[in-house]
Amino acid sequence: MAKQWLLLLLLLLHLVATLCLSKQFPPVSNLLLPSSSPATARVAIADSGAEDGSSEIKNRGIPLKANLSSCHPSYPSGDQIGSCCPTPAWSELEIIDFQFPDPSSPIRVRRAAHLVDEEYKAKYEKAVAIMKELPLDHPHNFWRQADLHCIYCTGAFDQVNSTAPFKTHHSWLFFPWHRALLYFHERILGKLIGDDNFALTFWSWDHPDGMHFPTMFTKGVLNDTERDAIRLPTVVDFNYHEDRGLTDGELVLDNLALMYHHMVSGAKKAELFMGCKLRSGVDGDCDSGGTIEESPHNPMHGWVGDRNNPVKEDMGAFHSAGRDPVLYAHHSNIDRMWATWQKMRNNELEFDNEEWLNSEFTFFDENLQFVRIRVRDVLNMSKLRIDYQDIGLPWLDTRPQPSVPPEIARSILKKRHDHNEGILRMPSETAEAHKLQRNGRLEKSITIRVQRPRINRTQEAKHKEEEVLFIYGIDTKRSGFVKFDVFINAVEETVLVPQSREFVGTFTNIDNSCTNPKGRMEKKKVKPHLKLGISELLEDLQAEGDDNIWVTLVPRGGTAINTTVEGIRIMYMK
Ligand SMILES: *[C@@H]1O[C@H](CO)[C@@H](O)[C@H](O)[C@H]1NC(C)=O
Ligand SMILES: *[C@@H]1O[C@H](CO)[C@@H](O)[C@H](O)[C@H]1NC(C)=O
Ligand SMILES: *[C@@H]1O[C@H](CO)[C@@H](O)[C@H](O)[C@H]1NC(C)=O
Ligand SMILES: *[C@@H]1O[C@H](CO)[C@@H](O)[C@H](O)[C@H]1NC(C)=O
Ligand SMILES: *[C@@H]1O[C@H](CO)[C@@H](O)[C@H](O)[C@H]1NC(C)=O
Ligand SMILES: *[C@@H]1O[C@H](CO)[C@@H](O)[C@H](O)[C@H]1NC(C)=O
Repeated sequence: MAKQWLLLLLLLLHLVATLCLSKQFPPVSNLLLPSSSPATARVAIADSGAEDGSSEIKNRGIPLKANLSSCHPSYPSGDQIGSCCPTPAWSELEIIDFQFPDPSSPIRVRRAAHLVDEEYKAKYEKAVAIMKELPLDHPHNFWRQADLHCIYCTGAFDQVNSTAPFKTHHSWLFFPWHRALLYFHERILGKLIGDDNFALTFWSWDHPDGMHFPTMFTKGVLNDTERDAIRLPTVVDFNYHEDRGLTDGELVLDNLALMYHHMVSGAKKAELFMGCKLRSGVDGDCDSGGTIEESPHNPMHGWVGDRNNPVKEDMGAFHSAGRDPVLYAHHSNIDRMWATWQKMRNNELEFDNEEWLNSEFTFFDENLQFVRIRVRDVLNMSKLRIDYQDIGLPWLDTRPQPSVPPEIARSILKKRHDHNEGILRMPSETAEAHKLQRNGRLEKSITIRVQRPRINRTQEAKHKEEEVLFIYGIDTKRSGFVKFDVFINAVEETVLVPQSREFVGTFTNIDNSCTNPKGRMEKKKVKPHLKLGISELLEDLQAEGDDNIWVTLVPRGGTAINTTVEGIRIMYMK
């Protein structure tokens, strides 16, 4: 276990340095920033900062809705134009309002893909085979079903009375839209084989038994040629950016720790879990997913997609993900995570907000009716007659531990700070924004001291308001796959993994070109932000009484080389 040895070595170095009372601190600082802190020069701090991303977004106060007359080509892959506009045009169809299924109809219980029997697999294969044989312009045809993910995720439609694209990723529409997609897809599959109880299956990647690619999706019609053949036999990696060389056992522990973080300690408020509050119109745009969308959702798409394709098609890109049948199993588990989180907070309404509740999507149902379904319709699974098999939640018991005793970590960091070794100060006395300058590129790790406006808060105060690390103005230059990890009070971040309590979260984006059809978002280019809940984590790092924390951003695999970040501060979220 190289990690432990490195940490031990670090502690020894710390002791030696302390004993010598040396002003120089070469070994440790060299580990933190490989050359003599060039990042300091490059990432200077400016005091001014108008756009901190925190101001309440303007909005028109109306629910989100697609203008069905506006379908146009979008940009599924870089500069390549593609179109997934449906024919006949949706604007020509009669729309009916969604009706809940009969409350006495049986509940469709989605089971784990690694536990289903041969009979079930045969049924699923038969349904998909029929789907693939339907006429190409039939709305139930497999490829037309796949187009739904392209239509709603690459911005093929504008919003009504706006040129802003209608899209369902990176915001509070993420879970509701995908739940509706699965609902209709499942009922269509059932209808095609005359089975009203047919249920989708979920890829239980959050459970050690389900962390391999489900074998049922490697055969016959459920197989897909555009997958990464090299990775598929191994355990999945939620913190994937490149092959990390970890053993299967290490990956399992890492995945479970990340699940704990993204389901429990980092997801205490609805916005943290669900994603940013996208409002209608160009001014209301936001572009930041919740914890589970960021990971495992994003990395898993990239992990399955074929690395030899331009944007990792099929699963690695919005426009093509629906062509791989495993999308529906992947998203069934995403949806199961939402259902689990809803239960964990006693089904408290996520957002008591009419704009969200009345935002609407259209789908074909199993009877070929064109249906308008709203966010409020999909909140209660029992009304949709859906449930998930209970296979346990092993990640509930995997609360991460600090990798270095917190008091030692703090004293090392303080010393580095006092010697001005590579630590940038965020002079945010008033919790106002301060910009990392435009050239603050994430070529290598950056450590920043961030002021905490409130310390020693009571449990009650913490319950009411979650302390949130707010990393704003993330500009990826839309350069494909970008990933960086975030740590607090990390002494040696290069060896840290999600199993370490210092791990706060990660930023990943898949094929962002899709969300930015050229010429349509020129008016206001929205930069994503990261909001990471840290109240529980700070307790575990024994930092609740500290005025400052040290935040380290670690770019991964060279992907964040052109990415800039405007700033970091603490905020409180109700
Ligand atoms: C769009 O604008 C028209 C004309 O101003 C208005 O009548 C209509 O209600 C608007 N629709 C929405 C959804 O805002
Ligand atoms: C819908 O889009 C069409 C085509 O772009 C446009 O002419 C029409 O005004 C839009 N309608 C609304 C309500 O936004
Ligand atoms: C699934 O597809 C891959 C890629 O085309 C192929 O190598 C593999 O043999 C297929 N598996 C089966 C069981 O047909
Ligand atoms: C969900 O719907 C069921 C009826 O199917 C109802 O009994 C239950 O109270 C609802 N839950 C919530 C949180 O509204
Ligand atoms: C905060 O709590 C710590 C630990 O209990 C204590 O040492 C410190 O004095 C407190 N600070 C303030 C300002 O209350
Ligand atoms: C960074 O930007 C340069 C210049 O635009 C480009 O050539 C390079 O491919 C980019 N690198 C990454 C990793 O995006």
